[in-house]
Amino acid sequence: MAVALIILAAGKGTRMNSDLPKVLHPIAGAPMLVHAMTAGATLDPAHTIIVAGHGAEHVSKAVLEHDETAKVVLQTEQLGTGHAVLQAKEALAGFEGKVLILYGDTPFVRPETLEAMLAADADVVVLGFEPADAGRYGRLVMDGDSLERIVEFKDASPIEQRLRLCNSGVICAPAPLLFEMLDKTGNDNAAGEYYLTDVIGLARRSGHSATAVTCDEAETLGVNSRAELAAADAMYQEVARNTLMEDGVTLVAPDTVYLSLDTVIGRDTLIEPNVVFGPGVTVESGATIRSFSHLEGCHVARGGIIGPYARLRPGAELSENVKVGNFVEIKNAQIAEGAKVNHLSYIGDATIGPRANIGAGTITCNYDGVMKHHTDIGADAFIGSNTMLVAPVSIGTGAMTGSGSVITSDVDPNALALARAPQVEKPGMAAKLFDMLKAKKAKRDRGS
Ligand code: UD1
Ligand code: MG
Repeated sequence: MAVALIILAAGKGTRMNSDLPKVLHPIAGAPMLVHAMTAGATLDPAHTIIVAGHGAEHVSKAVLEHDETAKVVLQTEQLGTGHAVLQAKEALAGFEGKVLILYGDTPFVRPETLEAMLAADADVVVLGFEPADAGRYGRLVMDGDSLERIVEFKDASPIEQRLRLCNSGVICAPAPLLFEMLDKTGNDNAAGEYYLTDVIGLARRSGHSATAVTCDEAETLGVNSRAELAAADAMYQEVARNTLMEDGVTLVAPDTVYLSLDTVIGRDTLIEPNVVFGPGVTVESGATIRSFSHLEGCHVARGGIIGPYARLRPGAELSENVKVGNFVEIKNAQIAEGAKVNHLSYIGDATIGPRANIGAGTITCNYDGVMKHHTDIGADAFIGSNTMLVAPVSIGTGAMTGSGSVITSDVDPNALALARAPQVEKPGMAAKLFDMLKAKKAKRDRGS
């Protein structure tokens, strides 16, 4: 049966104390809302609808950046979870499948759990959990396997408040039933809000079935403060590191490696301590990422050796067996097979041919203060140490540049380009200079 996702993301998140809408705060390099969208996307939904309110413009931008087929609907006033879901009614007009409701600030619900909810044998299915501290969560009132209703903590009797099974907020119901019931909800309750949770009791009273699927508390973890954000990130990292290791990646010191939601690392790659993977990184099998390297938006092919202390920025495309050494920064550059950039270099907006060797301290001077320009280095070229390549410029196949050269025009294949002041030698001059300077210092020391 077709599935539609509705993700609630209109709340303010006051306790974040932030100008950024809560659901856009990142966990593992991706807005927490994107985590919920990613989990939901595994169900191959026919519709993905995000209910935005606070910071809707920003939320909308982030949503569409991640998935341009998603739809953002506005909840201008936050009148409750039921009211929030109702904002998606129009966008789902005519949709007869199941609706799955997620929260944008609850990033860790597993796809398997959502599958289990879709497979459950009842009209309305709620994801429940038994927290260590049930606190102020809504309570599931069960009768055997049958869910009778959900009572919000504020509205619960003392006996109901002692119930252990709580509402995670994730709810699944056929679209027509969901909206029919939501139209019947009011806000005559302790919070004065339109509760999504009222749908269950209403559905039961009109002869529909309801049940609960349960999950671990960790899955339903919500983020309300910066401390909880950090804790959620730590939780994500631990799981992701373990998954990588199970997939055959060596993490020498797992606790010191930071991963992003979309990090992909191939089997038998070795990650040394203290490496950061920002968004958009793919590392193929058998590579080595050495300590203190920072990677984002880049691709390292098989057998690459990166770092220590390397920085790969967006658009760094490294082919097989490329070596990038310490204090090298690479941005928007294609480095072909077997090329080496081993020490202290900046390579930006460049193409480097196979087996080329880039000497220590080489810089592609790509920016003239207004525009960016490209540097092209041919196969087997040898760039002498401390060469400034003033772009746009190209170095031919098999060409060489002398150390310390400032290269401002193209170099032909197999040519040697020298662009530096010729060496001048003055015999005995150093000794004379030293004597002169020493005498000067002695005079000053006496005279003071
Ligand atoms: C809700 C549930 C409660 C459950 C708990 C789990 C209701 C009535 N209560 O309570 O049973 O145990 O979540 O965390 O559903 N939101 C909107 N628009 C609104 C109100 C909320 O988009 O008008 C969004 C929030 O941004 C948040 C989510 O819905 O992502 C939940 O809202 P929140 O106010 O945290 O609900 P709780 O009171 O915690
Ligand atoms: Mg809440």
